[in-house]
Amino acid sequence: VNRGNGITGLVDSGIQKVPERYILPPQQRFDLTKVVSQDSILIIDVSNWDDPEVIKSICEASGKWGFFQIINHGIPLQVLENITDAAHSFFGLPNEQRSKYYKGASPSETVFLATSFSPQAEVALEWRDYLNFQYIPGNDQASALWPPVCKDEVLEYMKKAEIVIKNLLQVLLKGLNVKDFDRDTQHTLMGSPRINLNYYPKCPNPQLTAGVGPHSDISTITVLLQDDIGGLYVRGIEDDTWIHVPPIKGALVINIGDVLQIISNDKYKSIEHRVVANKIKNRVSVPIFVNPAPDAVFGPLPESGEIPIYKQLVFSDYFNFYFSKPHDGKKTIDYARI
Ligand code: SIN
Ligand code: FE2
Repeated sequence: VNRGNGITGLVDSGIQKVPERYILPPQQRFDLTKVVSQDSILIIDVSNWDDPEVIKSICEASGKWGFFQIINHGIPLQVLENITDAAHSFFGLPNEQRSKYYKGASPSETVFLATSFSPQAEVALEWRDYLNFQYIPGNDQASALWPPVCKDEVLEYMKKAEIVIKNLLQVLLKGLNVKDFDRDTQHTLMGSPRINLNYYPKCPNPQLTAGVGPHSDISTITVLLQDDIGGLYVRGIEDDTWIHVPPIKGALVINIGDVLQIISNDKYKSIEHRVVANKIKNRVSVPIFVNPAPDAVFGPLPESGEIPIYKQLVFSDYFNFYFSKPHDGKKTIDYARI
């Protein structure tokens, strides 16, 4: 199917109906009656990262909800707008210009375009294309062949986001009684950040499709910028409800990934989430997956002081396992259990 043009190419060609290949079996469709509005996602003002109240809120939210939003994080609004605009520019390119970045054909080793999640294994393809970048701090050569319509904007955003990421990780480590944020720790927690420009073109019938199916991220943490359209839902704690993550101008959504749940021996939780495409508008989101380096070995920290419930793993093994199957809720983490 349309490997070259992805879902964006199909929508651009003027389809009026959801193609067969994208229709979810009825039991996998999103049941809107499960959406609850009384719960909401915590908003934390991080203008002072050293404030004990801020530290407490972040660590508590990470243990209970695994999801929160931050405001006053120091990244200028203009930088956030530039990168969402850049995503629209890239996906607005004519198919021939966009598709030369497809996985396997891309002129750059650190950028590729893809569609869905694991198309070879999925019953229904996801209604999403994405451009994925590997960010190597301080290495200008690595970004030399990135698409000119978004290269500067991605680099500018990543440079600013790195500061936020380091602050978040230091706070989360404090909550685990880890004092050092040395080179080794950084290699393990954030050695290989990747960033996506996600594009969910408007969908004739979003109820029939998955923008992104239910999953938890495998990252240490994910820092997500979403535009003003909405459609991201987080699963309620230990039940079958879903909570909408309201778009807030200038805010960043933070979620805990499996790696941090494993390292913290379940003190922090990665939470299931999913995305529903929009019927009228093209939606953009920009997650930064703060991942360990591929060769990093991770497992429950001795500081947790408890009997480890997860084994030691090499990150590349966990990563390859995740991408070998469709999105399947929180099942990936079972791979790590003792
Ligand atoms: C994802 O979790 O994979 C995407 C989140 C979003 O687009 O809001
Ligand atoms: Fe995710």
